[in-house]
Amino acid sequence: MNTPDRPPAPPLDIRGLRLRLPRTARPVLDGVDLTVGAGETVALVGESGSGKTLTSRSVLRLLPTGAATEGTVRVAGDDVLAMDPEQLRHLRTGTAAMIFQDPRAAINPLRRIGDFLTESLRLNTATPPAEATRRASTLLEAVGLTDAALRRYPGQLSGGMLQRVMIAAALMGEPALLLADEPTTALDVTTQAEVVSLLGDLRERFGTGLLFVTHDLGLAAAISDRVYVMYAGRIAETGPADALFSRPRHPYTAALLGSTPRLDAPPGRLVAIDGQPPGLQVELAGCPFAPRCGYATDLCRDQAPAARPLPGDPARLVACHHSDRLEGSALDG
Ligand SMILES: Nc1ncnc2c1ncn2[C@@H]1O[C@H](COP(=O)(O)OP(=O)(O)O)[C@@H](O)[C@H]1O
Ligand SMILES: [Mg+2]
Repeated sequence: MNTPDRPPAPPLDIRGLRLRLPRTARPVLDGVDLTVGAGETVALVGESGSGKTLTSRSVLRLLPTGAATEGTVRVAGDDVLAMDPEQLRHLRTGTAAMIFQDPRAAINPLRRIGDFLTESLRLNTATPPAEATRRASTLLEAVGLTDAALRRYPGQLSGGMLQRVMIAAALMGEPALLLADEPTTALDVTTQAEVVSLLGDLRERFGTGLLFVTHDLGLAAAISDRVYVMYAGRIAETGPADALFSRPRHPYTAALLGSTPRLDAPPGRLVAIDGQPPGLQVELAGCPFAPRCGYATDLCRDQAPAARPLPGDPARLVACHHSDRLEGSALDG
């Protein structure tokens, strides 16, 4: 809990998070450090399978059976990994809220939008029903819908409208932290852009911290203040979005940016990174990216690099033995 003489705790502060799943040779998340400040948008990026979803689900302790955790995951100061069931319920219905990839899979098709939006407040707080409905109308308006939507069923709304409803639902409990896991993947490109700009506006208006999980670097660059690049369950590199995307200092980030299709690039220019991320049955001695990395040396194969601040730029941390070799390798455009 916060005391008045200390600065308020950030919406999210993950330290040394290690997550093991049954029957695997190595932790699926290994020493993750990640923070989201009030009103800040933070992107978590990386290839499929890198551990982004498990990181965001850890924040609500929505983990697979048999998962074992070490480290701390503090939401507004309180450690989620140490919460009792009552504290967890309060976390999930108030302090933090998640927006999922596919809104249609996350909503009961047989209930009206109004019931869906007000349910959590009605069941978990002493909020009178009329006030819950008032709040639902206000938030529907904030996400660009009218309160006519209250009486509609999910099947009567488009995917984009439904994702707006999910965002309104996430804001009902006045969360300190919003988690959005690939929230626009199921939407068409135009709707994607609308939802992304909406999330940005809401974050400003409500002061909510936003963790935006995506494999889409273009989207991450467009929406975020800061970025974490994840590879094989570890943070490869983090820093302010503009600096990190224009001057990547981890070979994995550079490779990811090199493989991002650009609108101005000739068709067919999409080069995937050679090789595969290591599976969970592979024990890792050194840097997990070494087998795919053009800069790798024996040191990389023997010793996992710790995340270190760049000289003269403490806001950027890079876990690479050879990050100095990428200095000056600015990507144009
Ligand atoms: N419920 C689960 N049981 C077993 N393995 C899982 C489970 N969820 C995820 N994994 C594995 O953990 C790794 C990270 O998954 P995930 O966090 O979903 O990655 P991302 O969201 O970056 O694509 C993957 O290797 C995935 O196969
Ligand atoms: Mg995922």
